[in-house]
Amino acid sequence: RPRYTGLISKYIDRLPISDDVRIIGLGEGGTPLIQLSNLPKAMGRDVDLFVKFEGLNPTGSFKDRGMTMAVTKAVEEGAKAIICASTGNTSASAAAYAARAGIACFVLIPDGKIAMGKLAQAIMHGAQILQIRGNFDAGMRLVKQLAEHAPLTIVNSINPYRLQGQKTAAFEIVEELERAPDYHCLPVGNAGNITAHWIGYCECSGSAHEQKLTEACSLCQGQCRFASAMIDKRPRMVGYQAAGGAPFMRGAPVDDPDTVATAIRIGHPQSWDHALAASRESGGWFDELSDDEILQAQRALADHDGVFCEPASATSLAGAMRDIGSGRIPEGSTVVCTLTGHGLKDPDVAISQAGDAVQTVDADYESVRKAIIARL
Ligand code: F0G
Repeated sequence: RPRYTGLISKYIDRLPISDDVRIIGLGEGGTPLIQLSNLPKAMGRDVDLFVKFEGLNPTGSFKDRGMTMAVTKAVEEGAKAIICASTGNTSASAAAYAARAGIACFVLIPDGKIAMGKLAQAIMHGAQILQIRGNFDAGMRLVKQLAEHAPLTIVNSINPYRLQGQKTAAFEIVEELERAPDYHCLPVGNAGNITAHWIGYCECSGSAHEQKLTEACSLCQGQCRFASAMIDKRPRMVGYQAAGGAPFMRGAPVDDPDTVATAIRIGHPQSWDHALAASRESGGWFDELSDDEILQAQRALADHDGVFCEPASATSLAGAMRDIGSGRIPEGSTVVCTLTGHGLKDPDVAISQAGDAVQTVDADYESVRKAIIARL
């Protein structure tokens, strides 16, 4: 057996799961926490800025952390089919874990608004793909109705095991830094991941241990086992949204969200109350970014520090950079930005920004030499 087999085995005593369960896993978790050296320098700011690169999970997004738990539990409970609504990453992950488990997988995706890489994954893993003439929020409504009438287990983040799996990202960060960061920045769509991280940090902290259950932690319905105190201070949780779909900034659901960051094109977040609680309890905040700011951050990260994330993921970094620049996040802070998905998920958006990066030249020595010299 390999030494690392995934987050369920590693954290089994901190997850609501029994020791003898058949784990449906793909070696997820254990993603790198990369310190950005060039971007903060380029901004002229003295901060310790890290990215947790969740795009390096098996299907290229953080969803695998939750999916290994949700599918493991579904199989344990005898499920023969799972279902989700998705902007793309959940469907890719659900499809992969269902394939691994040998059960059926139905995914509802918004017609035409899903990145190519994600669709390719769902196809390859043999999911039953239903492209609906509606957005993610419509898909979510349908999935809830369908699961009431048919033997289908929902694997969206309203499935509490999803958040239990995803909380392990916070454990890994605490292990790496031997403390919590001062600020943890995440892109927010359906609001499950910010909730899950807050659960994770609360379980690592003495204060949560004393309080037993914080509002956010009540999600686990008393099932989680609190770790012994590892940190004495929890981070401020900062949630960033795309301006075209920023219900937390509007203070109400948004009916027609739109953004280049298709992964977070969501107007009716399911974990609304929990995400608000995480932000309030932690002393954090929400903010919104334009599509241009998101794409600029995606580009800057790839260009300056060699990390390629998908547009939605860059929302966290775009927000952090703005708040570091303005001083809202003060110098001397330790900041972690979650990069939720890999840049290869959405090649179209990357290539559409090519500008003059790609130049066609004749296949002879002189032409290629001239082209290189012109660019040196
Ligand atoms: N970033 C990426 C790349 C995502 O795919 C998602 C959500 C988020 C951020 C937001 O996380 O919903 O927990 O607030 N994608 C879901 C999906 C909705 O269907 O793949 P959240």
